[in-house]
Amino acid sequence: MRIQGATALVSGANRGLGQVMARLFLQRGAQRVYGGARDPRSVLEPGVIPVRLAITDPEQVAAAAEMCSDVTLLVNNAGVLADSPLLAAPELDAARAEMEVNYFGTLAMCRAFAPLLMGNSPGAIVNVLSIASWFTNPAMGSYSASKAAAWALTNGIRGELHDTGVLVVGVHCGYIDTDMAAHVTGPKNTPEAIAEQTFAAVEAGRTEVLADERTRRAKAALGLAPGTTASARRP
Ligand SMILES: NC(=O)c1ccc[n+]([C@@H]2O[C@H](COP(=O)([O-])OP(=O)(O)OC[C@H]3O[C@@H](n4cnc5c(N)ncnc54)[C@H](OP(=O)(O)O)[C@@H]3O)[C@@H](O)[C@H]2O)c1
Repeated sequence: MRIQGATALVSGANRGLGQVMARLFLQRGAQRVYGGARDPRSVLEPGVIPVRLAITDPEQVAAAAEMCSDVTLLVNNAGVLADSPLLAAPELDAARAEMEVNYFGTLAMCRAFAPLLMGNSPGAIVNVLSIASWFTNPAMGSYSASKAAAWALTNGIRGELHDTGVLVVGVHCGYIDTDMAAHVTGPKNTPEAIAEQTFAAVEAGRTEVLADERTRRAKAALGLAPGTTASARRP
């Protein structure tokens, strides 16, 4: 499908990657861009239509689907990182919160919008995943578990939507230069680079974005025995 003329909804469009994606959709000729945010007043990108959307709130998800019934391109971008290990975390709260947003929230959005996207096809669902779907840094193990779950869900809905005219794209990348990775001093992707690669995949009908070299190596290493890659080491 083409970005030009598309009607897009981006969750978490008030900052970070979501804000840049929403801006670039408009620059690339999208007909309408809805920007989902927990606080719609924080959607400040000119031309983007604010939508109240906490993806963990079933009523808000249903209301967004009603308001944005003309969507042809859904970007499930909203996500959280609690920077929490699996064994050393004092409680399960962080692991549950990451699962609620990154997995169940994304799943709720896919379920609410799939019928609309099928009706408006050709269309696409883009799920913003991570290198962490495949590479578990022990310092943030529960985030990786949530992104691995979101990867499995992405593959599952692709199967369910086969032959419906709805493309399902998983976007995997290492650190991006946003608030989420503000504490990171090493190399980071720009949000613009992730957005451009995502748009190219959508337009070419490709199901996966491997946005940087580290991510391509992590995917290739899936064929190795667990424990033989850097994911076994402490950071
Ligand atoms: N930054 C990285 O290094 C990196 C690397 C790989 C993948 N990713 C993924 O890229 C996506 C975008 O992240 P980012 O880097 O732009 O992070 P960010 O700057 O922290 O932005 C996260 C966005 O998600 C929203 N959000 C969080 N919980 C939500 C909920 N329950 N309902 C609706 N919106 C919610 C936030 O809204 P509020 O402003 O209301 O908090 C914010 O708009 C995420 O899925 C993340 O996991 C990031």
